[in-house]
Amino acid sequence: MSELIVLIMAAGKGTRLKSSLPKVLHLLAGRPLLEHVIRASSPLRPTETLVVVGYEAKSIKTRFADFRSLVFVEQVPQLETGHAVQLALPLLKQHRGTVLILSGDVPLISTPALEKLIATHRKGGSSATLLSTMLEDPTGYGRILRNSQGTLDRIVEQRDANSQQQSVREINTGTYCFEIPELCDVLALLSANNSQKEYYLTDCIGLLRERKKVVSAVVCEDPLEVSGVNTRMDLARLEQIVRDRKLQQLMADGVTILDPNSTYVTPDVQVGKDTILYPNVFLEKESSIGSGCQIYPNVRITQSILEDNVLVLDGSVISESHIQSNAQIGPFAHLRPHSRIGKKARIGNFVETKNTQLGDHSKASHLSYLGDAQVGEHVNIGAGTITCNYDGTAKHQTVIEDRVFVGSDSQLIAPVTIHQSAYIAAGSSIDQEVPPDSLAIARSQQINKENWAKTRVRRKE
Ligand code: UD1
Ligand code: CA
Repeated sequence: MSELIVLIMAAGKGTRLKSSLPKVLHLLAGRPLLEHVIRASSPLRPTETLVVVGYEAKSIKTRFADFRSLVFVEQVPQLETGHAVQLALPLLKQHRGTVLILSGDVPLISTPALEKLIATHRKGGSSATLLSTMLEDPTGYGRILRNSQGTLDRIVEQRDANSQQQSVREINTGTYCFEIPELCDVLALLSANNSQKEYYLTDCIGLLRERKKVVSAVVCEDPLEVSGVNTRMDLARLEQIVRDRKLQQLMADGVTILDPNSTYVTPDVQVGKDTILYPNVFLEKESSIGSGCQIYPNVRITQSILEDNVLVLDGSVISESHIQSNAQIGPFAHLRPHSRIGKKARIGNFVETKNTQLGDHSKASHLSYLGDAQVGEHVNIGAGTITCNYDGTAKHQTVIEDRVFVGSDSQLIAPVTIHQSAYIAAGSSIDQEVPPDSLAIARSQQINKENWAKTRVRRKE
């Protein structure tokens, strides 16, 4: 098998997006455009993946720092796609075989489509093979020009096409295979002989043809798969497509979605059967929702695990947390990162948790903040209980053991431990360890001044 190198062009600014963010960092289904392209090509197991960056190169490199196998090539200034590949030549020349050139702004490209392109390229012994597609409205794309026998001749860009060429509906998707030595030969010949005075990679096709090399085109049947993102409208259109596909797959797998038009689930989310999603629900990142759950309106769940039969009531936000089966959350609860809620536990309205574990059957039903807390099983956290976890410098832990009852409106001043089966009297400020089975009262004594009100009225008169 000959070697495969992947080269992704991602140096452009994306002028038509009118953004200070480089185009390939714009998000589609919660992921940068470039990440979609990387994910589609990595199963091909290339020897190397080169990414040409230029505009805001640093922010792209930072964003992809975890993708250790990528090799970045810098293109400054950006003199078009041919120039981008020219700058990668020193690295490309170290390899023989095939280079698969992809555009960082064609995010829905699939691995099977790429496999088919490579297979056709190699089987045909071609110097270059490109992926084309037929569009109802080809405006903006490079057009595929074929000769009278129907063989690929060259590509003409929209801005350089005459009106007859503009009527061609077959377009260049910006996805190509080239044999590396032949690509090197013609890249050296590219001239900026076009309306923009720039170096078009697309001209390499015509140059190879003139040299009697075999060039071919594979037509991609699904134009959506090879849609480029050039404008915010394109971005919204593709977002809708990705979303519809995901929702359809979930419904086919047994998830009830009341209103698909207002439900947002990103591709990596899993949802079990018989779960019901109400309108305005957002499920994001690698969240996993069990079966038989009910997620009520206006809920956002990010990077979290919900086991089976969890009920999430209206207006709740859950991030990087784990909720065990049959628990109930909300309405209006905020579970911040590293919250772990036990089986049949309950987090009620206006309760916030962070880095907190709440044991099985425990409840914090109203108006509480639990931060850096370790709460056991069968604990009752009364309304308005606050863990005072931050002293202005460091965070401290509150430990509440099994079967503790915390009376309403108490403050637990961390670090502090309340041992099992203890009671905290309502309105207490607890800053000392509470022994097991005891009652801690930490509030000022009540004084009743009898007849005080009557004397006050008399004084007024
Ligand atoms: C390009 C093709 C066009 C094709 C279309 C498909 C050329 C000349 N034209 O046009 O035939 O129909 O894609 O979507 O190739 N880039 C660089 N360096 C540059 C310029 C661009 O790396 O100097 C990158 C961009 O970041 C982007 C990709 O190349 O990811 C395509 O660039 P773009 O400017 O969007 O090209 P199109 O005008 O869409
Ligand atoms: Ca484009």
